[in-house]
Amino acid sequence: MEIRHVGVLGCGLMGSGIAQVSAMAGFDVTVLEVEQRFLDKGFSGIEKSLAKFAEKGTLKEKPEAVRARMKGTTRNQDLAGCDIIIEAIIENLADKRKMYAALDPIVKKEAIFASNTSSISVTEMMTATKRPERFVGLHFFNPVPLMKLVEVVRTIATSDEVYESAYEFGKKLGKVPVRTSDKTGFIVNRLLVPYLLDAIRAYEEGVGSIPDIDNAMKLGCGYPMGPFTLLDFVGLDTTYYITHVMYDEFKERRFASPPLLKRLVMAGWYGRKSGRGFYDYADPGNPVPGKF
Ligand code: 3HC
Repeated sequence: MEIRHVGVLGCGLMGSGIAQVSAMAGFDVTVLEVEQRFLDKGFSGIEKSLAKFAEKGTLKEKPEAVRARMKGTTRNQDLAGCDIIIEAIIENLADKRKMYAALDPIVKKEAIFASNTSSISVTEMMTATKRPERFVGLHFFNPVPLMKLVEVVRTIATSDEVYESAYEFGKKLGKVPVRTSDKTGFIVNRLLVPYLLDAIRAYEEGVGSIPDIDNAMKLGCGYPMGPFTLLDFVGLDTTYYITHVMYDEFKERRFASPPLLKRLVMAGWYGRKSGRGFYDYADPGNPVPGKF
């Protein structure tokens, strides 16, 4: 089945990015949100990002032409004709299952369902539908318009045909797809999360200051961001949530949240998005490391 029309569930940071790269690749896109204001916020981010690409001359057509392929909706029925649905709503299994169960009878039978989850089991989501063989994970990375990777996640029930279609779709989006199976964290978070948590433990144990650990990994290993900058960028609440799912799956200390991460999340210091995390972003041009 040829994929022409992409449905995206959620217009937050990840959903809007997925919608944008799909439209940039020439697909028609419909984005579903619960309220119009979330669509407005997501589309305003998309327009800014398209303008940046246009300014750099890396967009093949006018931003308005890309934007014209995208529409937002708050009605489930508007996704009925989509060939693939990519879900990027809140990381909560019950909410995701509810959403899939509601859409399964509406969206055409041949359509593929894909989740952008970073850690929840795709298998647990697919059982909310009557199309487990047409269910995969498509895990994108933040910021979606810039990060080249997509993890294509196969469950024990995914059919070969659906898996290959999803893999090819990842390529058509201009991404480099990697094949992985439905084990919590897939490839990237399985390796990234223990590294980020170890950086926090190293700081707790007095190995180095926040900027020194960041600089060490940036300048000593060539990483684009140090671990604390990346933690603030991904969101401490998101990371804290992932640690729970991963620890629950593997029961290994390397996936367990260090006390400081928990304290910051409890304080509501989620990183860049809340203005404060391991750094204070009161002056976003010059973030100052926190003293804990
Ligand atoms: N759209 C279009 N252009 C954008 C953009 C966007 N959304 N965001 C940034 N840009 C542009 C900037 O304008 C800038 O353009 P310029 O070169 O013309 O000035 C260029 O991209 C580079 O941006 P910056 O100068 O702001 O910063 P960097 O050079 O550091 O690049 C970065 C930014 C690509 C985010 C880089 O720092 C990076 O790769 N960081 C690591 C990100 C990462 O690891 N992400 C994965 C997180 S894990 C995850 O998502 C999984 C989840 O499950 C937790």
